[in-house]
Order: sequence, then structure tokens, then C-alpha cells
Amino acid sequence: MNEIKIFSPATVANVACGFDVLGFCLDTIGDEMVIRKTTEKGIKITKIVGADLPFETDKNVASVSALALYNDANPDCGFEIEIYKNIKPGSGIGSSSASAAGSVFAINQLLGRPYNQTQLTNFAMKGEAIASGCEHADNIAPALFGGFTLVKSTSPLQVLQLPTPEDLFVTIIHPQIEVKTSEARAILPKQIPLQNAITQWSNVGSLVHALHTNDYNLLSQSLNDVVVEPYRSQLIPHFDSVKTEVIKAGALGAGISGSGPSIFALSKSKNTAENVAKAMTSIYAKTDINFITYVSKINTEGIKILS
Ligand code: HSE
Repeated sequence: MNEIKIFSPATVANVACGFDVLGFCLDTIGDEMVIRKTTEKGIKITKIVGADLPFETDKNVASVSALALYNDANPDCGFEIEIYKNIKPGSGIGSSSASAAGSVFAINQLLGRPYNQTQLTNFAMKGEAIASGCEHADNIAPALFGGFTLVKSTSPLQVLQLPTPEDLFVTIIHPQIEVKTSEARAILPKQIPLQNAITQWSNVGSLVHALHTNDYNLLSQSLNDVVVEPYRSQLIPHFDSVKTEVIKAGALGAGISGSGPSIFALSKSKNTAENVAKAMTSIYAKTDINFITYVSKINTEGIKILS
């Protein structure tokens, strides 16, 4: 195989209570990438469609992560990468991770799969680091493993795959304002009150239990973030109204997707998730902020090979 075309999915990091550790993978929203072997050695970005991103190998997340794998594997060929972006950079649904995870996944396939998903996550984190300023894996892991993931540790990297309840759907609204991940991280407190820590780790534990037991009520009770959301929600206009209205529309819970500005809500059934999209739309339609909404099943497969 000399060429591969893949779908690299968007992802939701944090999942309310699990800052920097929890994430899940979306099914219908994502980028496409074409990666081919070249006789000339090295990594080259040859095409970027849909976003204004750098072509320089040391500046694009897709090539930085590809290079981490390439330098480790030291193959006697090179690779060129075409990126077709559908996930808007800065949306909060894992745009940089889709590029970083996609390139290492594809090159691994072309090399005959010498690396496992954890090793690929490690390479992709190198790319993610240049986009967000730190090596977090909570978007990359769900893109590569699929479904829900928990990053148990980044050094050494340990990723746990969590089960996905069958009827779970997500609704996302992306208000088109800019929230930089680095700034959304900088406003967070370095210390938190013990009572908030207790609430938060009880929510993470119960959310994981809810996924294992298909307990939608417990899942709903666990989707609560007392550590990060109070600070970051101030960067997202109408966040509180969106949260109130989606719950009224039947959502199990809602929160900031990654570092924002997108807001996600989880629902039990596609029908409810579509009603939740209408509730989100009704709030932002009254403002002058442009927005996009998405409804998706949870993607338990992760990155998909298209050809
Ligand atoms: N866990 C990261 C954060 C995700 O919330 O800053 C960034 O997409």
C-alpha cells in the first residue's frame, strides 16, 4: 500500500468533570487526509484545503506528530500529507488532534502497523503540544482508540478505553468566536478548594461507572464540573442559558467541549439530541454570533480508513 485516505474525527475533551483526562469521539464530524509514500525521504505537507494552516513541517501539527513517528521508525521512504479540514481550528472539538492523530495513524498503516494505539497517541501528543502549549492527550486518545477514553497518565502514557452506552448521542453548538486553548488554560486557578476536588472526583468516578453499567440517570448526575466550567463559561456568551434550555429539552447534561467555545450536550436517543440542537439554535439565533450545530452518535471506531 502506497497511499491511504482516512476520516479523522472530531472529539470532545474533558466531558464536563474530567479535565485533561476524559474524552469521546464523534462520528459524522471530521477531517479527511490523504497520505502517500514518497521515494524522497522526510515529511512534507503538500495540500491544505479548508483552513489557513502552516505548510512548514516544524509548524503544522500533522507533520510535527508525523515526524515524531518517522524519526523513531526511520523508514527508507518519505511521506506527503494532504489535509482536508472540516473541523474549524479553535472550535474546541479537537481540530488539531484530528490532524495530529490522523497523520500518525495513516503513516502507521502504510508502514504495516508497527506501533500500537498508545504509541501513536504518544507521537500525536508532540503535534498537539505545538497547538495548545502542553502535551495533553484527551482529544488524541478518543480519536485513535474510539468511544470514550480516560488518560490515566501521560508520563508514562496510559490510556483506558471505556464502554459507550448504545443509545448515546451528542449535540454540539459551535459559536464562531475565538477562545484560544492557551488562554482558556491560563485563566484556571492553580489551587482548588478541597470540597470542589471531592465533588469533582466523585463525578469522574460515577461517570465512569455509569458508562460501564449503561446507567443514563447516573451519567446525567455525573456531568457536572465545579472546577473548570465556572471560569471558562465566562468566555462563552449565553453558556448558562444554553445549559438550562438543553436540560429542559431532555439532555442528560451539558458542558464546555474541550477549552471551548463549543458546548456539548449528551442525550439518550437521536430524537432528543435533535431537540437539543433546536434548543441551542433558539438561543444563538437571537444573537449576532454565527454558529453551527452538529448531532452525532458516539464513534466507537475512531479514525476510519476510506480507501
Ligand atoms: N483538556 C484540554 C483543555 C483540552 O481543556 O484545556 C483542550 O482542547
